Amino acid sequence: MTYDAETRIYPVDPLHPDPVILRLAADALRRGGLVAFPTETVYGLGANAFEAEAVARIFAAKRRPANDPIIVHIHDLAQLDQIAVEVPPLAGTLAAAFWPGPLTFVLRRGERIPANVSAGMPTVAVRMPSGSVARALLQTVALPVAAPSANTFSRPSATTAAHVLQDLSGHVDVVLDGGATAIGLESTVLDLTGAQPVILRPGGVPLEALREIAADVQVKTHYLALDADAGASPGMLIKHYAPHAEMLLFDGEREAVLEAMRQRAETLDAEGKRVGVLAYEEDRAVFAGLNVHLHVLGALQNTDKIGAGLFAGLRALDAVGVDVILARTVEREGLGAAIDDRLMRAAEGHIVRIS
Ligand code: TXA
Ligand code: MG
Repeated sequence: MTYDAETRIYPVDPLHPDPVILRLAADALRRGGLVAFPTETVYGLGANAFEAEAVARIFAAKRRPANDPIIVHIHDLAQLDQIAVEVPPLAGTLAAAFWPGPLTFVLRRGERIPANVSAGMPTVAVRMPSGSVARALLQTVALPVAAPSANTFSRPSATTAAHVLQDLSGHVDVVLDGGATAIGLESTVLDLTGAQPVILRPGGVPLEALREIAADVQVKTHYLALDADAGASPGMLIKHYAPHAEMLLFDGEREAVLEAMRQRAETLDAEGKRVGVLAYEEDRAVFAGLNVHLHVLGALQNTDKIGAGLFAGLRALDAVGVDVILARTVEREGLGAAIDDRLMRAAEGHIVRIS
């Protein structure tokens, strides 16, 4: 199954989104079409969340398996009652602190939301994005919008309109080009349906910030290929955000890891492989003399910058046609937890542990 459409692309000024373009995009959504739009995290591929047929087009366009549930986007807290039932008080407390922003709640699904949004589960994921184009679109259409990241399934998420078009041109009705997204990593997914809040996917709001408000927040991210018992978030497949190239993620003490990466790069080069390295500013010198495509993400302490450029970096190395990408893990602290998670998934579990 596929969804084909004549794709129209509109540049949008994030500070002053043109109401005429917003209405065009809103009309496409009301007719059951698909609209790609920037949020503060990544680009989303949106459809009317109340209409099962429109939502089905998302799965077709992305070639996304039907067992991977989608996040519903809103612009006003009052919409929550149309989407979820038995909303716990903690949702209100966390929404007051973090919405609009990169935090998604998993709640009990209300009856107006069709089952395919949630892959048939009795729950639903909801978030209120802060990105100005996303907010303006949601206000204009005045409907909840179901939107996964606007990439084809298991590819790195799209952080620019060009990425969206690489993956979805001819399969989406409208693309709103509002420039590169600010955070570059997806939202934190927090399950509020159990006795304790549980992070299912680390993202733009760090664990530490959540714990300031809810001290008992737990972390339970699954990597399906490694963990057959993954239940709560079926979308958390290990094969996710993956570049075409094979990726090896090195883990361990910095000096030893860098030496192992340097040696591996030389060996692969000698074998005739084209090698890409996703590096931090501090590591640049280690790879300087080697026959590798070096993509520097930024200085290690600047996790905002590393996060913002990570998916674009993976796509850039794919675009130059490398066979193998080498990278190393980061501290799982603050935004580092989300960065490390995406590196893990991009590497599809190919971790090289250096002792
Ligand atoms: O930042 C984001 O969250 C972006 C932008 C577009 O909002 N969206 C996004 O959507 O990353 P997607 O579909 O790529 O990832 C949604 C994640 C998946 O890991 C999925 O398993 C989880 O949210 N999820 C969605 N509904 C769920 C549910 N009912 N229960 C548990 N997990 C759910
Ligand atoms: Mg995604």
